[in-house]
Amino acid sequence: MKYDVKDLSLSELGAKRISWADLNMPVLQSIRAQFEQTKPLKGLKVAACLHVTTETANLMKTLKAGGAEVFLCASNPLSTQDDVAAALVEKEGIPTFAIRGEDKDSYYSHINAVLDNEPHITMDDGCDLVSTLHKERASQAQSVIGGTEETTTGVIRLKAMQKDNALKYPVIAVNDANTKHMFDNRYGTGQSTIDGIIRATNVLLAGKIFVVAGYGYCGKGIAMRARGMGAHVIVTEVDPLRALEAVMDGYRVDPMIEAAKIADIIVTATGDRDVVRKEHFLVMKDGVIVANSGHFDIELDLQALTKLADGELTEVRPNVEQYTIKQDGKEKKIFVIAQGRLVNLGAAEGHPASVMDMSFANQALAVKWLVENKDSLKVEVLNVPKEIDEMVAKLKLESLGVKIDTLTEAQSQYISSWHVGT
Ligand code: NAI
Repeated sequence: MKYDVKDLSLSELGAKRISWADLNMPVLQSIRAQFEQTKPLKGLKVAACLHVTTETANLMKTLKAGGAEVFLCASNPLSTQDDVAAALVEKEGIPTFAIRGEDKDSYYSHINAVLDNEPHITMDDGCDLVSTLHKERASQAQSVIGGTEETTTGVIRLKAMQKDNALKYPVIAVNDANTKHMFDNRYGTGQSTIDGIIRATNVLLAGKIFVVAGYGYCGKGIAMRARGMGAHVIVTEVDPLRALEAVMDGYRVDPMIEAAKIADIIVTATGDRDVVRKEHFLVMKDGVIVANSGHFDIELDLQALTKLADGELTEVRPNVEQYTIKQDGKEKKIFVIAQGRLVNLGAAEGHPASVMDMSFANQALAVKWLVENKDSLKVEVLNVPKEIDEMVAKLKLESLGVKIDTLTEAQSQYISSWHVGT
């Protein structure tokens, strides 16, 4: 079996942590049990490019239980948990190509190693796997039934491919399922981003001025949790509707150039580039902490910061780099976490398992649905079918022991009728 992981001797620790995560993934567990019986993915090869974490390991086990041959590489050079990668190879026999801290060349060689297996299904997080297949190995697309995409940034890239008529097979936007983005992006990113900042710096949030760039689902979660820890939160936005929502939710909204002047901590979660750039670094206070929780490491313009610091940067704690800028005869320190890559995965463990339970239940069921419907699908970016979304919500509630009301017959009629008025 071909694989490339850091150290197989880490596999015991990885296996324990994978089991720990599984305890909080009851929905995925129930899907795995069903897959074991029915083998819906029998004879199919799945190439997955995801953050190599304990939760992903449980998704890989589920696909394998469904009869698939699974190959995994990392969707970010800094998010791989090396013990998990080792356990997947050693304990689960899943070819895994991922090493934390890998450089760009290894990152893409790992994507290519996974694609060498001629997959029938692609499972992506950020669209690097799909875009490599389309750009460099286009002839392979004809044997692909379809794919799934985990995150907002990936869905945006896929829709751009569709618009350019470049997309060659259907891809399900798992991110857009309600049981994914309303929970994973909001509560998952909210908690784990704060976790990453605190693990890296041990900073006290109470009383700090905490700037969140972007008020999408991720930004909402981060702002909510930072406020809960006692920080004064300022939101920056470019979309008037989202900015208004932030105002009505009780946050101060400012342009970044104003917020940067007073910030103690700045986190980006926009999916956009250069959200924090030279003009912002120049007005920041001494000692400010800057991090990104958006998918790619383009939200902070670290090239500009490196130039401002004359290349002077030192790692002052694990995952924290200090840039020193000489300005007005004084030295100013700016601390960047996890090299501007996703702070929650670079400096912490990513989302808690119980939220990934829903995201990955959608992934597993979306793959099954792709296979069942392969002959009738249009080549486009598809939504997760409503039945799957509702089933995931129902199963999650059941696992939490939460019961809800059901409509009476009169209620059903009333809410679907236009006849009854005042
Ligand atoms: P979204 O599209 O709901 O929200 C992004 C927001 O950023 C929008 O309201 C947009 O108007 C705003 N924005 C865009 N450019 C901006 C700028 N220059 N300044 C200020 N605001 C700006 O996206 P969502 O779902 O919140 O995701 C954001 C990013 O986080 C994406 O890259 C996504 O892939 C990633 N993500 C990261 C996760 C993690 O584990 N860290 C988990 C889920 C998503």
